[in-house]
Amino acid sequence: MKITLLFFFLSTIAFAQQSLGDSYERGKLLYDDFCVRCHLPNGLGESGLVPPLSNADFLDDIKATVHSIKYGIHGPIIVNGVEYNGSMSPMGLGDGEIADVTNFILNSWGNTSDLIIDEQYVKKVSEIKL
Ligand code: HEC
Repeated sequence: MKITLLFFFLSTIAFAQQSLGDSYERGKLLYDDFCVRCHLPNGLGESGLVPPLSNADFLDDIKATVHSIKYGIHGPIIVNGVEYNGSMSPMGLGDGEIADVTNFILNSWGNTSDLIIDEQYVKKVSEIKL
């Protein structure tokens, strides 16, 4: 009984890691295609012009993060105490792709997240911010 439970527990962890791994890898490719030219390979952006994704307090709000990638974001916003009054247009990514690139940025450059974002989550983030 105990062994069965242990096995169940371990396989659940393995499954969670695998699904983050696959999504992360797809997200990395998307990042290199769609985001890197502004937010840079190190995720630091450019202070005052393009906000960072690495250790950015903005990413603590996952819903706002997904919303900004899905619908775009227009300033003013404050990230890590610095004001940005720029504009990022939506890039036309599908909900699954947005989930993948979000998983990538939430787990890169020292960022870590317990949540794995999936397509269903992105679908539920509506245009109107509540
Ligand atoms: C053309 C340049 C450009 C590209 C390409 C771009 N961004 Fe942005 N991004 C910006 C700017 C500028 C802002 C800040 C907008 C504002 O001032 O409201 C921003 C804001 C953000 C934010 C919220 C603030 C923060 O830094 O946490 C996130 C999250 C984000 N971008 C993620 C992405 C992702 C993921 C991609 C690729 C799918 C991407 N961006 C592509 C320029 C860009």
